[in-house]
Amino acid sequence: MSTYLSVTCIPTRVSVIGAGHVGSTLAQRIAEKNLADVILLDVEAGRPKGIALDLMEARGLEGHDRQIIGTDDYRDTANSNIVVITAGLPRRPGMTRDDLLRTNAQIVIETTQKAIAHSPDAVLVIITNPLDVMTYLAWKVSGFPSYRVMGMAGILDSSRFQTFIAMELGVSTADVHAMVLGGHGDLMVPLPRFSTVSGIPITELMDPDTIHRLVERTRNGGAEIVNLMQTGGAYFAPASSAYTMVESILCNQSRLLPVASYLSGEYGLNDIFMGVPAFLSCRGIERVLELDLKDEERDALHQSAQAIRHTLDDALKMMP
Ligand code: 2OP
Repeated sequence: MSTYLSVTCIPTRVSVIGAGHVGSTLAQRIAEKNLADVILLDVEAGRPKGIALDLMEARGLEGHDRQIIGTDDYRDTANSNIVVITAGLPRRPGMTRDDLLRTNAQIVIETTQKAIAHSPDAVLVIITNPLDVMTYLAWKVSGFPSYRVMGMAGILDSSRFQTFIAMELGVSTADVHAMVLGGHGDLMVPLPRFSTVSGIPITELMDPDTIHRLVERTRNGGAEIVNLMQTGGAYFAPASSAYTMVESILCNQSRLLPVASYLSGEYGLNDIFMGVPAFLSCRGIERVLELDLKDEERDALHQSAQAIRHTLDDALKMMP
């Protein structure tokens, strides 16, 4: 048999830090859509190892040969193309995302530092709440260029708004496109003017009261699920949202998606991470798209930014 050149091929790898419901569902999405190999890490090796083996044992049925590794050792995450940070506590009923700040800030700082030590060229995708502030902390401790750090939230909020619009009108979700910008919190900014059904703005399809009701349900989307489930928050839609970002980056799709991005002057905002439309490609954030907003939309965005900055000031006191 002829000998082949010893070629070391490093398959595309995504490390998911945090083997909770969101992290394990995201690992499943990435593997079973045959997007990349997955390394699922948590502080206790048992859970990620068990989930990884379980997912491996489904490969034959799911039709892929992706490697899924469960570990508590950051060395196993080396050379990841993307590192997703979802480690942290989820909300309980009655809690705001900001209530998670103190605990999750320490977790995000520590996990980011450990992960990037082994993947210095990775793109960082943050999921841990309070999202916009955690994304800023991860960026700060990583020292990465801002285009390689982003937060998953706007896609999730937009997907909720999209779903509520489709349910209200009785149309296919596939024909609905929704846009939600701003912080991932009570002051998020759903934009009816940029939300459409087959290109028709919803402002031409629904009365203002109905739109307001759907906007409020979107703002409350995360809490609605926390209250229903009582023991934790949403994880299927968050995992699908994070997958959409990871896929656009790994497949260089340049999708235009609402993503928590670093702003340096866009929308009149500086030195903050917040949900804005951004093109996601192989390098991370290709560029932020600045929409021509009406005064009331811009004011709402700035109010949302103020709320983030208030929480950020507290978080920065915890920086090493
Ligand atoms: C949510 O809105 C987990 O923050 C996420 O459900």
